[in-house]
Amino acid sequence: MSISEQRPGSFAIAEDGVDPALVPNRVLWTGARMPAIGLGTFGSDRFSGEQIAEAVLGAAAVGYRHFDCARVYGNERLIGASLETIQAGGIRREDVWVTSKLWNDKHAPADVIPTFKESLADLRLEYLDLYLIHWPFPNHHAPGVDVTSRAPNARPYIHEEFMATWREMEKLVDVGLVRHIGTSNMSVAKLKLLLRDARIKPACNEMELHPCFQQPEMFKFVMDAGIVPIGFAPIGSPTRPDRDKTPDDAVDIEDPAIVAIAKRLGVHPATVCVKWAVQRGQVPIPFSIYRNEYLSNLRSTVMAPLTDEEMAAVAAADRNSRLIKGQVFLWKEGQTWEDLWDLDGVIAR
Ligand SMILES: NC(=O)c1ccc[n+]([C@@H]2O[C@H](COP(=O)([O-])OP(=O)(O)OC[C@H]3O[C@@H](n4cnc5c(N)ncnc54)[C@H](OP(=O)(O)O)[C@@H]3O)[C@@H](O)[C@H]2O)c1
Repeated sequence: MSISEQRPGSFAIAEDGVDPALVPNRVLWTGARMPAIGLGTFGSDRFSGEQIAEAVLGAAAVGYRHFDCARVYGNERLIGASLETIQAGGIRREDVWVTSKLWNDKHAPADVIPTFKESLADLRLEYLDLYLIHWPFPNHHAPGVDVTSRAPNARPYIHEEFMATWREMEKLVDVGLVRHIGTSNMSVAKLKLLLRDARIKPACNEMELHPCFQQPEMFKFVMDAGIVPIGFAPIGSPTRPDRDKTPDDAVDIEDPAIVAIAKRLGVHPATVCVKWAVQRGQVPIPFSIYRNEYLSNLRSTVMAPLTDEEMAAVAAADRNSRLIKGQVFLWKEGQTWEDLWDLDGVIAR
């Protein structure tokens, strides 16, 4: 059904869908509940905004209640039309979770609130459930550029500047335009500073998490701090653009442990990645515009748990294989992408 064919009142859950009340959720430090799976909305180079807005409608019709958006995805206006249709169809605003993110060229304090308001208007909402700082670096790069591209005025993470951005995020909570604020693509070292200095604590940290990249140390740190980890690229982003691939990257959906579980359950290995993620405790946000795919991802969350042996086998599948390396955020010559992630616990300058 196309967006234009959707009519108010038409939003009953599809017969083969999942009752949203059965989908697990996570409790944030505020006491709010967030659905433990969301639909990713980054179409990369492959899908149009219209196709993704259509997927948002379709996903809501099969039981999704959580949508992971971002200004830089360039599709919030179209998704906003879908969110309006969903609500006109009888789904209450408080039963839908919508996230958006502040892009890197808008970290200047004067830009934060106006940029947020653009997202809010495009999404046709009166508040957002979660607003994230998309990357801790203020360095702009246009969507789709090659990984060798660098901003001419690129800078490292500067905590004082990040906190100035965070103060504006806090104001959005104060005035009720945002329920929760959070971060993405952080390191433990950066999060420690933020937790030390924040007036309003981050509720979530969005980070790359999939079986071949489990970030056990950071995952534990985030969980222990009472921050909910949202896992992006939960399937290992198998169809990401070639510019984001390197020869050493692991392929999660071909991992023997994942494939063996998929065979037992009679599902696609992608579904196992999502199932494992929810069972481990993170909130995966798998992307797909295809109904069969996003429905099976959602269904996985209400299936019987993986066995302890299967969970152990997936834990052992970790290859420390980061896929979204962030090269475009590097700020000086001679660096490697590892410098972005503070692997030795010290923030690189
Ligand atoms: N915070 C950040 O910096 C950040 C970074 C990256 C991503 N994200 C968010 O995370 C979301 C997900 O990441 P992602 O799209 O890179 O990776 P992903 O969800 O790991 O992979 C998506 C791809 O997996 C395939 N897939 C999905 N479900 C499937 C199923 N049931 N069976 C078979 N194949 C399936 C689809 O391929 P086909 O399309 O070929 O079917 C889809 O394009 C994004 O949309 C975005 O919202 C955030």
